[in-house]
Amino acid sequence: MRLDKFLCDMGKGTRSQVKDGIRKGHAVVDGVVCRRPETQIAKQTVIYEGQPVSYTALEYYLLYKPAGVVSATEDKREPTVLDLIPDKKRKDLFPVGRLDKDTEGLLLITNDGQLAHSLLSPKKHVDKVYYARVEGLVKPEHVELFQKGLAFGEEAPALPARLEILQASPQEEVSEIRLTLHEGRFHQVKRMMAAIGCPVTYLKRLSMGPLTLDASMKPGDYRPLTKAEIERLKG
Ligand code: URA
Repeated sequence: MRLDKFLCDMGKGTRSQVKDGIRKGHAVVDGVVCRRPETQIAKQTVIYEGQPVSYTALEYYLLYKPAGVVSATEDKREPTVLDLIPDKKRKDLFPVGRLDKDTEGLLLITNDGQLAHSLLSPKKHVDKVYYARVEGLVKPEHVELFQKGLAFGEEAPALPARLEILQASPQEEVSEIRLTLHEGRFHQVKRMMAAIGCPVTYLKRLSMGPLTLDASMKPGDYRPLTKAEIERLKG
């Protein structure tokens, strides 16, 4: 791979910025200043502007998305989930699926298109677990309805889903639930809960397939996936 592409892929600037930097003598390859952007890099060590640069083809991050940021790669008005990962090397990262702007919780950020495709495939039925606070009382009969496959205004009813009542307060007319979905339709949790008369007031995704938010993580925190997590996701 060319030196300028290597540096550009690793987020060191645009192609023309890094070409310029290389020509000015800011790149050192195997201990020697290299001023030719077209130099082929394979296994050499590269230092740019005094910092060692190693090449990463694929990156995987688990982000605890806070409310108020959009699940997009860029947005003219709003901060995006990618703005929350300052350590990223690649410029081609994207969120795997979406959480609404006001939803918090686990979001996988990667540039592995193949993995994203397989996780989002409707045939794969990757489990997604959500915690929600809702208005109204969630009752055992709702649990049964969800188990059978709730009709919620779409042509096809939802796939059978596991609804757990964590707390239901008749005095305050609010409930807390955990919901496990095996699919990911547009605003699915909010629409399913609204369909039983219990609109969502707070929503957080706890897990997706084998990935779970760490107990120590706070909204806005992120970390690279471990090798074991990547293998489990691909498995
Ligand atoms: N379901 C929703 O309604 N919103 C989300 O952000 C995720 C699932």
